[in-house]
Amino acid sequence: MSQRISVLYNLINSPFVYRLIQKLMSGTSFRKKIVQKNIKNRKFKILDIGCGPAEILDYIPKCEYYGYDIDKRSINYARKKYSNSNYHFFCKKFNKNELFRLPKFDFIILFGILHHLNNKEAKIILTLCKKKMKKKSKLLTEDPILIKNQNMIARFLINRDRGLNVRKKKEYLSLLKPHFKYLNAKITRQLFIPYTWFTVICKK
Ligand SMILES: C[S@@+](CC[C@H](N)C(=O)[O-])C[C@H]1O[C@@H](n2cnc3c(N)ncnc32)[C@H](O)[C@@H]1O
Repeated sequence: MSQRISVLYNLINSPFVYRLIQKLMSGTSFRKKIVQKNIKNRKFKILDIGCGPAEILDYIPKCEYYGYDIDKRSINYARKKYSNSNYHFFCKKFNKNELFRLPKFDFIILFGILHHLNNKEAKIILTLCKKKMKKKSKLLTEDPILIKNQNMIARFLINRDRGLNVRKKKEYLSLLKPHFKYLNAKITRQLFIPYTWFTVICKK
């Protein structure tokens, strides 16, 4: 099992509650910055795995978008909110059967998903993603991270995350390194609400 399951975590993952919590925790603005820094609002092809309510579409509406998530409520929410013939939503795991239906991508987004996957699941997804990346494309990851001398509140929150595979820097990198030639990793210590993010920009 890679995610905590309980009534509380189920509630937290409902799209409305999730979006509210992410706004309060500054997760929404943090991801907005990553997207705006790395992706221009053009007709790029974008694959978003573990897309949740697909909020990144607010910042890059011109793209051709393919979002995958196993949570039906999130996908239904995204389908309603972002109804557009250039946007495609799938309520399923991203696996090898999906490859045939998809184009090659300019950007692949893995925001908040690696810490929901065990090493075996992550390896499968990263292998598939690489197959679907254009030559000069980028894969972007963002997850909570455990670090030394971490703010107590950040550590408290991160240790209770729904994803059961929050990792240390070395562990995240050892997942990514076998798949990519270039990795640009960054740890961000958010002051309010205290939280610690790990972002990596990966190129083939
Ligand atoms: C922390 S949320 C991130 C949502 C969104 N990417 C964001 O940044 O707001 C993680 C999402 O991954 C989804 N998820 C977990 N395991 C998955 C899997 N194997 N395949 C697809 N989605 C998955 C969950 O349902 C959840 O919506």
